Amino acid sequence: MEKIVINGGKPLYGEIEISGMKNTALAVIMGSLLIEDKCVIENLPDISDVSTSFQILEHMGASVRKINKTTYEVDNTRTKGGISPSELVRKMRASYYLLGAELGRFRYANVDQQGGCWFGERPIDQHIKGFEALGGKFEISETTGYYNIDAPDGLKGTHIFMDLVSVGATINTILAAVKAEGTTIIENAAREPHVVDLSIFLNKCGANISGMGTNIIKIKGVQKLHGCTYNILPDMIEAGTYMTIAAATGGSLKIKNVIPKHLESITAKLMEMGVEVEELDDTIIVSGTGTLNKANMKTQVYPGLPTDMNAQMCVLLCLVKGGTSYLTEGVHENKYRYCEELRRMGAVIKVDGRVAAVEGKGILTPAVVKAVDLRAGVAMVIAGLAAKGKTEIEDIYHIERGYEDIVNKLKKVGADIKKINVPDPYQYEIAN
Ligand code: EPZ
Repeated sequence: MEKIVINGGKPLYGEIEISGMKNTALAVIMGSLLIEDKCVIENLPDISDVSTSFQILEHMGASVRKINKTTYEVDNTRTKGGISPSELVRKMRASYYLLGAELGRFRYANVDQQGGCWFGERPIDQHIKGFEALGGKFEISETTGYYNIDAPDGLKGTHIFMDLVSVGATINTILAAVKAEGTTIIENAAREPHVVDLSIFLNKCGANISGMGTNIIKIKGVQKLHGCTYNILPDMIEAGTYMTIAAATGGSLKIKNVIPKHLESITAKLMEMGVEVEELDDTIIVSGTGTLNKANMKTQVYPGLPTDMNAQMCVLLCLVKGGTSYLTEGVHENKYRYCEELRRMGAVIKVDGRVAAVEGKGILTPAVVKAVDLRAGVAMVIAGLAAKGKTEIEDIYHIERGYEDIVNKLKKVGADIKKINVPDPYQYEIAN
């Protein structure tokens, strides 16, 4: 079993290079299934979800060539639909983009149900609303449990008003609509940067999408798409995570390859807490100032404070000296499983539904903790970097789904951190 071991309690100083955005990468890779041609995708993060995505496409007949650490060429000319490998599909939530891509290309989709982080109910009713509005017939197979969508009469452009803002449903509907007959309008669409990035990628391949980044997106169906070379956005959540690390350790980090505009909600909240933030063109410098003010915050859809920053900001609130801060989760049903792990480190957090009341104890103490999901896992890293002494983090595979080379990136800025392999204490040889 692999663990991360941190000897924390010291300020970190130096430069961090931000990698490509996980949630864009997964949408673009799965979206490339629509294109019966070669696509070159640049600035991909070296994370397990990216390799899982390419393995799925390869299993379906795509040819994938790694050009360098961050650049892959994928050719979906010979990719077949309906045969994605269940054990890989169930490793992440973004597998559900196969539904929109298969439906958009083959007028038929057959994919096992997706996996991913558990935050309570994460239904796909809005995805289904988009598919059915375009003419797809959705069902769950009684024999395999797979999602099945069939559009025997093809896909026709339509007007869809999403009941709620959903990144996944917006992206999946775009994927299904790009080659539909006629024009599709998606109202109450998600405005996240990765929705914009996916749309620009598809437009570079010949699609006709406009309005991305607003809550009304128009897709004019086209007959054919062609390959392209596309460089994906830097990861705003990875950047926000390192911003929080600078604040939590009281050091100063120069975080490069960012788009400051995407980080505005995080920057604003950190400055409200007394953290120094300096914005340059594609760099942001974050410095602790010795004090952290208590603050209330609510995660929301973009451009609000991202829900994927909930756990990281909670660690920071634990380090405030005095008072109580209130953290409200505005997107997912239950984002607070990580609080149990933080309590092992001395945190005093009362969770009531979507609201966490965080006592400003001013310190966290070392412990053995678990990564319960991707962002909760990286929050344990932040807590370990802030706590004086040795913290051990188990189940670190969650972290490696979304953070490229986090141990070395942190070592470079002075962290005493390492990844170790230990025999699983509960592993026992069954006597033969
Ligand atoms: C994407 O998940 C991200 N994942 C999540 O990031 C992120 O937390 C989320 O968007 C919100 O920004 C990927 O991009 C792979 P949603 P997604 O559909 O698309 C409800 C990470 O840490 N909902 O915007 O699944 C849903 O339950 C991951 O990188 C419905 O009710 O999120 C949630 O409460 C974790 N019905 C809310 O909407 C639907 O049909 C927002 O979900 C769809 C969603």
